[in-house]
Amino acid sequence: MPFSRTGKVWMNGRMVAWDDATIHICSHVIHYGSCIFEGIRCYKTLKGPAIFRLREHIERLFDGCRIYRMEIPYTVDQIVAATVETVRANGGDACYIRPLAYRGYESLGVDPFPCPIDVAVAVWPWGAYLGKDALEKGVDVQVSSWRREAPDTLPAMAKASANYMNSQLIKMEALVNGYAEGIALDSFGFVSEGSGENLFLVKKGTIYTPPLTASILPGITRQSITTLAADLEIPVVERSIPREMLYIADEVFFVGTASEVTPVRSIDRQTVGRGMRGEITGRLQSEYLAVVTGQKDDRHHWLTQV
Ligand SMILES: Cc1ncc(COP(=O)(O)O)c(C=O)c1O
Repeated sequence: MPFSRTGKVWMNGRMVAWDDATIHICSHVIHYGSCIFEGIRCYKTLKGPAIFRLREHIERLFDGCRIYRMEIPYTVDQIVAATVETVRANGGDACYIRPLAYRGYESLGVDPFPCPIDVAVAVWPWGAYLGKDALEKGVDVQVSSWRREAPDTLPAMAKASANYMNSQLIKMEALVNGYAEGIALDSFGFVSEGSGENLFLVKKGTIYTPPLTASILPGITRQSITTLAADLEIPVVERSIPREMLYIADEVFFVGTASEVTPVRSIDRQTVGRGMRGEITGRLQSEYLAVVTGQKDDRHHWLTQV
């Protein structure tokens, strides 16, 4: 997605022009990956732009920072307000929002403590993440040869930039092999998640998804889909998933802020179900899109009007 370079970025309490939102090359984050970030969507609704589950995203940002001993010099409320302010300052009906907290410029060396925690919020337009037809027709994916990080290496619950070096390996391998995305196994060989999405599968009317112990990001869409499935009285079971369950599932789908609810139509060239968006995937996708765009009542109080 091209950036619109006319926008404004919130940086440490100040709104700056897009092209001025820069940091020094010797900032700690550039050398050592010391950044926690978020990805949030703002949707066009009949009542104007609305941000989906803003507070939960900002709380996850703070949780990730806590894991990495990064003390954000703002409160959750202040970053929530800064996010709304940034969306407003950039106008437009819908956008993707990227809050970041990172170790800034002070000294270099692995020891991060001397470096300040800088915070920024940028927004830009972002359409369907896995391609134009993905939401309707589904995507072809592979099981990656790269595993997710083991639980005692990089903490998967923190949405840390460093984790996305692993995601990039998964994504690049998939793209080079002609797939839209890769599914990673965890270090024990159980199904974990996509490079930027959580994963669900459906077997005989029940939905399964890997637990937090499978080195997954605690996705906010994942949690939302579990809630919507309960609303629709579709049973959801969180449990370890052996790889082979992917090949015998009736339906498989990815969920995430960027990918929303994207059907998977084949895995390792084996067709999933009938090779098209499955019935339960379709129901959850419609419900999700109706809720996030305000076409259905915001019964769970997930939207923040801008
Ligand atoms: C690795 C990974 N897993 C899962 C997700 C889904 O998380 P969420 O639904 O909070 O966007 C993402 C989203 O960015 C991700 O990068």
